Amino acid sequence: MTKEHITEGPLATGADDRGARRVAETELRAANTADQQNGMVRGATPDTPSIPLVSDIVPNYRLDGHVTIVTGGSGGLAHTLSQALVAQGSQVALVDLAVDKLATVESELREFIRVNKLKPVTISTWACDISDATQVEELICAIPQEHDGILPDKLVHTAGYCQNIPAKDYPADRAEHLVKVNLMGSLYICQAMTRQLLNHTKRRESISAVANSAAEALPRFPNASFVLIGSMSGLIVNTPQPQVAYNMAKAGVLHLVRSLACEWARYGIRVNAISPGYIATPLTKQVISASPEGAALQQEWTSRVPMGRMADPKEFVGAMLYLLAARASSYTTGENLVVDGGYTSW
Ligand SMILES: NC(=O)c1ccc[n+]([C@@H]2O[C@H](COP(=O)([O-])OP(=O)(O)OC[C@H]3O[C@@H](n4cnc5c(N)ncnc54)[C@H](O)[C@@H]3O)[C@@H](O)[C@H]2O)c1
Repeated sequence: MTKEHITEGPLATGADDRGARRVAETELRAANTADQQNGMVRGATPDTPSIPLVSDIVPNYRLDGHVTIVTGGSGGLAHTLSQALVAQGSQVALVDLAVDKLATVESELREFIRVNKLKPVTISTWACDISDATQVEELICAIPQEHDGILPDKLVHTAGYCQNIPAKDYPADRAEHLVKVNLMGSLYICQAMTRQLLNHTKRRESISAVANSAAEALPRFPNASFVLIGSMSGLIVNTPQPQVAYNMAKAGVLHLVRSLACEWARYGIRVNAISPGYIATPLTKQVISASPEGAALQQEWTSRVPMGRMADPKEFVGAMLYLLAARASSYTTGENLVVDGGYTSW
């Protein structure tokens, strides 16, 4: 093929072709600008060669200026995730059933900041039963007052518990309570946070009294990211322990995440899950080390994990930061990130 035959596309050469390409580039740039204004990306590989800034393509995971709500704040997983959050500059609102345990967590977090010479951030603690929708609504309304009026737009929802009872013997009230905490609590906290973001925007618009177009535009929260801790139990049935209520609640969490992601994508709010396998938290370590049965249980569990061990809480930090950081996961919503050492692959 001669040069003359190549007249279009990235291989275009020759004086005439250069002119044609310049026109094409100008048109493409104009089209890209129009598309960007419409919030669209024209193609994965643009025809126009351009040199992006590193910061345009390599995400960073800083969360400065944001308030992240961490539910189950005094739990084993939340402890490590909160350390990562303050290290990334996020303010944190720690939520759990009782504040006394949270006070210890808070002082440990402050010590973590001091020892690591991190930038100090605001930390608040809140007593709340996540299965009580009224309490959750009040909680969400109160949090900005302790965080310079900043509305929380990041969530790390870890609150929950597991119970081992054979299905045929499971008392209805206990199964209902577990589902209320693990599943309904997940819905309540997401609803309350989204309502707050939307209501606040409506108020701002009515105060500014901008006529027509601005007031009618959908509010957008491109930084809002909710991360719900599910479990591999939402995908498989653990063995040997019977835990039907937990399994069904966690399966529900995964579909809740997909449903909210679809409804709220129009607002820019992303909703995702992380599904851990077995984690060596202080709680599970205590069970395992308490008796020969506990040790046998751990042996049974890890024999089903291709990686042959339980997870350390810090092995969930990367997944959490990926999902929270708008620059890293801007096109990820409704996803379930399984972090289980390969358990569900076997
Ligand atoms: N530990 C594991 O092996 C494992 C595996 C898969 C998934 N998970 C999930 O990870 C999350 C954290 O687990 P963890 O190991 O840190 O457990 P954890 O028991 O240490 O922490 C859970 C926290 O949730 C709090 N909580 C319970 N009910 C609540 C309620 N009604 N309102 C507010 N807070 C409440 C508890 O007080 C506790 O501090 C849970 O959702 C759990 O289901 C854990």
